[in-house]
Amino acid sequence: MNSYNGNNRYSAFPVDFFNRADDGLDATFYSSPRFVTHIDEAAIRCIGELYEELEIRGTVLDLMSSWVSHFLTTPKELVALGMNQQELQQNQAAASWMQQDLNVNTLLPFADSSFEAVVCCVSVDYLTKPLEVFDEVHRVLRPGGKFVNTFSNRCFPTKAINGWSRTDDEGHARIVAQYYNLTGPWENLQVQRRTEFGHQGDPVYALWADAT
Ligand SMILES: C[S@@+](CC[C@H](N)C(=O)[O-])C[C@H]1O[C@@H](n2cnc3c(N)ncnc32)[C@H](O)[C@@H]1O
Repeated sequence: MNSYNGNNRYSAFPVDFFNRADDGLDATFYSSPRFVTHIDEAAIRCIGELYEELEIRGTVLDLMSSWVSHFLTTPKELVALGMNQQELQQNQAAASWMQQDLNVNTLLPFADSSFEAVVCCVSVDYLTKPLEVFDEVHRVLRPGGKFVNTFSNRCFPTKAINGWSRTDDEGHARIVAQYYNLTGPWENLQVQRRTEFGHQGDPVYALWADAT
């Protein structure tokens, strides 16, 4: 159990931090499939290499997933959870998929300790109730399991939370670190820029921690 309870944890953030320019249903925004990649090839490779380095394998949940999950080695059993059915059906790495709006229902439909790892790629900025979702990720992870968040400097601006839009890459890392610090409890939190300083393409930032 963490030492915070309920919505009091959100007092750490400004009042309109989790509002968005487009406050319409995510189901509407994501109703048409987008068979695109949201970061360039080098960034995708960088994230795949991070998953290799962290030995993200076994039973894995790809949270806020689409038609690609960026693994260099496909996990033994990958579950993809996202918004668009057609994208998820095309995810070749996923053994199964499910459609769920995490901004409507933050409860993950899995038993406690179901996964060895959870990843969330270039999507954490769309969560309007991130603390509930991070707690749920902690619940469905086995003790010692990793929750890996990666992001770059691009997004769907109308769907990102205001707090994200108002700051820069380092600010984004601080936001995600705060999510870990307010949930869990997690241990061994790592915060890294994975691409070199001055990198010409899409930068990659990563945060990960172990469930206790
Ligand atoms: C920028 S895309 C990234 C997709 C994928 N993770 C990747 O690396 O290419 C954002 C993803 O977040 C998912 N998403 C956005 N809002 C969501 C929500 N409220 N609940 C669940 N998934 C959501 C969408 O389905 C979409 O696939």
